[in-house]
Amino acid sequence: MDEVDPLRNFRDRFLVPRQHNGDEVIYLTGNSLGLQPKQTREYVEQEFHDWATLGVAGHLRAQNPWLLYHEFLTVPLARIIGAKHSEVVAMNSLTVNLHLLMVSFYRPTSKRNKIVIEKGAFPSDQYAVESQIMFHCDAETRRRGDTVRERLIELAPREGEAILRTEDILKTIRQHADEIALILLGGVNYYTGQAFDMKVITEAGHEIGAIVGFDLAHAAGNIPLRLHEWNVDFAAWCSYKYLNGGPGSVGGIFVHENHANNFELPRFAGWWGNEKQSRFLMRPDFVPMSGAEGWQISNPPILQMAALRASLEIFQEAGMEKLREKSLSLTGYLEFLLDEINDKRISVITPRNIEERGCQLSIRVKEADKTLFESITSRGVFADWREPDVIRVAPVPLYNSFSDVFRFAEILKSCLE
Ligand SMILES: Cc1ncc(COP(=O)(O)O)c(C=O)c1O
Repeated sequence: MDEVDPLRNFRDRFLVPRQHNGDEVIYLTGNSLGLQPKQTREYVEQEFHDWATLGVAGHLRAQNPWLLYHEFLTVPLARIIGAKHSEVVAMNSLTVNLHLLMVSFYRPTSKRNKIVIEKGAFPSDQYAVESQIMFHCDAETRRRGDTVRERLIELAPREGEAILRTEDILKTIRQHADEIALILLGGVNYYTGQAFDMKVITEAGHEIGAIVGFDLAHAAGNIPLRLHEWNVDFAAWCSYKYLNGGPGSVGGIFVHENHANNFELPRFAGWWGNEKQSRFLMRPDFVPMSGAEGWQISNPPILQMAALRASLEIFQEAGMEKLREKSLSLTGYLEFLLDEINDKRISVITPRNIEERGCQLSIRVKEADKTLFESITSRGVFADWREPDVIRVAPVPLYNSFSDVFRFAEILKSCLE
């Protein structure tokens, strides 16, 4: 499979960490921190060079002028998430962006004020949503103490099941039709690896008059996305996972063009969201840009963006369709090998249906026995343990091989033995 893999040469474009003995690790944590593309250093060094030689003049005269730098990322990001260029901008970090978007798109009223999330959503999302609920209510409601409980709807799997059924999500949305202000789900759940049917959920949300947003941390660069077509209202993601932008690298947002010119929406403003023509006139009145760029606040972090740009160019070359094709067989192969191991102490909780997952498989370990994870780690596998009882493994089509998956399965099997 590696020999006939049309994407096999992309692995050489990345730096794979090595073990003490000099062998490459089996890196299956691209869902946590993607590997460094070799060209990243060169892209960042270009900015160091321009900063050193041009100083402040680099804003206009750098090889890639800093004033416009975020725009270099727009086209590849738009392609990855299925959006129009005007609907996308790279900025800030993920949780910050979720807050900024909720400031605009969570508009609770006395009757319609609930937010729907996944039970067991990534903690940062949970904290963000709960604090937005508190932020949006008056002091008296805040003091009551049960506001969050009243206004948060958490979608939980059925008893004895690990993943959410779409029919149950839709049922909950319809049951609370008059009360839901916002539905905010992960595109892919970080724990189970379940990919949600964003199109259908968005339609159901809109039918009842709610706004629908997605956290694409585990979806961007992992599964095919058509945010514009699906009519998703907004989304945010980070770029340090599948997008290989580097630790803490700059995030991104999507705002559907339906909202591009809705200047009635409240927003936390900053000068980078102000119309370009008048941004440097230093006027006190804020005139927001049309589209996603109008949500920008600060001038962009060039070094981070340079790193992300290096990686996005590789995505452009490889193409999401080819990546998805390889991803399906790579993860399918992993699933096959885990089935072959056929050990009662481990079970995959990620959906078997390929439409409902990306590259990650989440392996539940019986009795939360973390020593299994420790054993595979000591033998050169980079996977991760997520409390309470899951080992996440994510073969990434850009740089993982079928041999990586095979070696991982052999190690897992021998550790179980
Ligand atoms: C689903 C999800 N949401 C939020 C975050 C937090 O991201 P950040 O630290 O960039 O705000 C992460 C980080 O891994 C995540 O996976």
